[in-house]
Amino acid sequence: MKVIVTKDYDGLSKEAFKVMKAVLDEKPNAVLGLATGSSPEGLYAEMVKDHEENGTSYKDVVTYNLDEYVGIDRNDPQSYYTFMNDHLFKHVDINPDNTHVPYGSTAEDAKKYDDEVKGVDIQLLGIGRNGHIGFNEPGTPFDERTHIVELTESTRDANKRFFDDDITKVPEKAISQGIGTVMDAKKILLIANGASKADAVKAMIEGPVTTECPASVLQNHPDCVVIVDAEAASKLSK
Ligand code: GLP
Repeated sequence: MKVIVTKDYDGLSKEAFKVMKAVLDEKPNAVLGLATGSSPEGLYAEMVKDHEENGTSYKDVVTYNLDEYVGIDRNDPQSYYTFMNDHLFKHVDINPDNTHVPYGSTAEDAKKYDDEVKGVDIQLLGIGRNGHIGFNEPGTPFDERTHIVELTESTRDANKRFFDDDITKVPEKAISQGIGTVMDAKKILLIANGASKADAVKAMIEGPVTTECPASVLQNHPDCVVIVDAEAASKLSK
């Protein structure tokens, strides 16, 4: 695991962009594993800016997203599908047919998506306050594939800010790539910012590899870069 600590969120987004850009430069038809949430917003803004200013093309890029809520429409303002279109896809020259966000509510839907996710060159991840990656909550087996998840109270509480601060509006389930699916990526880039992530970041980097902190599995990945801002790094001992 390579760990980079930046002064602030802006620095984090720029460092993350460098990692992403290196993959795109080497392979214009790269397969990107993408994530939603507040953490990657700055990185996506950097990617859009680079596309507009330097012409970096996404026309041959293929993307697979990590997760999506169950029970909300694809075009709902809070869906992850909408998030990806708003923050990245509609601002670059990507072919919409090459973008994939999981959708569905059954084990069959999950299996079908898992079969599609192939050859990811770089998987972008955020981290939940309880150490979750994607929507793989604590206790999820490390070899699990894409599956339907019952969201924990803590995750629904953290995400209620997107739902008028009303936890009853936050979906109770999601469809998520499993940790086994995530770990198949050739390279992993995890980003985390803010004091609310400090405990999870410490457990991920310095704690034991345990399903109690799903992100700790990344210690076993052969090519994982973690970029955190000073606040998220504040509990690291080294
Ligand atoms: C969400 C998402 C994750 C995300 C994490 C952190 O629930 N399912 O993919 O990485 O929690 O979100 P944020 O970046 O908004 O803090």
